[in-house]
Amino acid sequence: MQDSLPASLTRRKSIAQLTAEAGAKSGLKRTLGPLGLTALGIGAIIGTGIFVLTGKAAATSAGPAIVWSFVIAGVVSALAALCYAELASSVPVSGSAYTYSYATMGELVAWIVGWGLILEYALGAATVAIGWSGYFADFLKLAVGIDIPQAYRLAPFEAGSDGVHGIFNIPAFIIILLVTALLMRGTSESDLVNKIIVATKLAVVGLFIVVALPHIDPANWHPFAPFGFAGIANGAAIVFFAYIGFDAVSTSAEEVKNPGRDLPIGILASLAICTVLYIIVSGILTGVVPYTQLNVHSPVSFAMIKLGLNWAGVIISLGAVAGLTTVLLVMLFGQSRIFFAMSRDGLLPNFFAQVHPKFKTPYLSSLLVGVVVAVVAGLGSLDVVADLVNIGTLVAFIFVSIGVIVLRRTQPELARKFRVPFSPVVPVLAALGALYLISHLPLETIEFYFIWLVLGLLVYFAFGRRNSALGKRREASGIAPNRRGRE
Ligand code: ALA
Repeated sequence: MQDSLPASLTRRKSIAQLTAEAGAKSGLKRTLGPLGLTALGIGAIIGTGIFVLTGKAAATSAGPAIVWSFVIAGVVSALAALCYAELASSVPVSGSAYTYSYATMGELVAWIVGWGLILEYALGAATVAIGWSGYFADFLKLAVGIDIPQAYRLAPFEAGSDGVHGIFNIPAFIIILLVTALLMRGTSESDLVNKIIVATKLAVVGLFIVVALPHIDPANWHPFAPFGFAGIANGAAIVFFAYIGFDAVSTSAEEVKNPGRDLPIGILASLAICTVLYIIVSGILTGVVPYTQLNVHSPVSFAMIKLGLNWAGVIISLGAVAGLTTVLLVMLFGQSRIFFAMSRDGLLPNFFAQVHPKFKTPYLSSLLVGVVVAVVAGLGSLDVVADLVNIGTLVAFIFVSIGVIVLRRTQPELARKFRVPFSPVVPVLAALGALYLISHLPLETIEFYFIWLVLGLLVYFAFGRRNSALGKRREASGIAPNRRGRE
């Protein structure tokens, strides 16, 4: 018997089924411990947020009080991270928010979250590529003396420093295509390689701190909050981007030695380290250069140049280029795997789940994602794209937080190796915090999100609902109404 409409929208994957699928699917080796996971988190988290958006947010929204914006966004992220950690330890299966939602709130919510994650991962990759382009241009100029004309490294309608308008961001376009090619061939990012990359990224941040610290002029911190508290909150909604990525830790659940203990440690430790670094870096940045001058594509190396420390600018821009490339890899990888999971579940066409016979990668999914994202990176302006990433991610946060409360009610007996303290207070605060940040995003961003959502619902009702693998299984086994996901 076919599911009725309400039953189909709320049909859930059982956790036993998810775990069985994961076991059958991967047989991945459990090699990651708390240190490796923390490194993975830092590798995914530090990127365009701190290297680029800090400057924009300080110049246009918060001023030097950007440090408080980082605190606010960090607190919201930490609350959500606790919720991710509980779900990651009780549903230790790859797939992150999409999978958790499928297990807790059913298919429609899972679809909405997965559809929102496209904004997080695909547009996130575009945002990082735009940041990459700024540092790449700085590196070429400082180290090799080649100046890429602004028209070819800015988006259309984006005004450059001398009033020139962009045409197409060629470096951003190319780097996405290169990383896509790499992903289509398959990369096996090892734990060791990841640790080296993370060490490089931390070294770059450390170099900036050490070199810039003596140049702080406290006068630059006045006025501290030129746009008041509203400016700080608007800044938090922008720099929230800098925290995105800790959920990458939870997607590696199947490769963790002791997921119940190590996942929460990895998620929370990477977030804590990044928060401290962000506060220090943004405080120093606004201390060495007046915040009004920071609305540039590469504020950290820009500050070095301003201070006459070109050598440090060269090292930092090169380090940023390397660090941002790894964030790109994580995001494009994540996007193709989310499409892969949604397609395997029958919610998207089979095309996305096709695996290359030789390389064993979802190459068609990667290719499609890569080409679309490359075009967006070439044409998109940084702040607009980053805001869309933020809203997609914040919506996922809301559902993950609610998911914790729902799962505690529907499956109280489930073994949870990590439990969010003071539930349901913390999950409710996490959801409210995410809503608060959404309310400080530009109205056009919120409008765009709703258009995106309606489009997603159309796709779901036209395709996913009918082709859902879970729906078909239930139909075959004669289960009609949803039985709390325990079939
Ligand atoms: N948090 C990541 C970044 O800032 C996405 O680039």
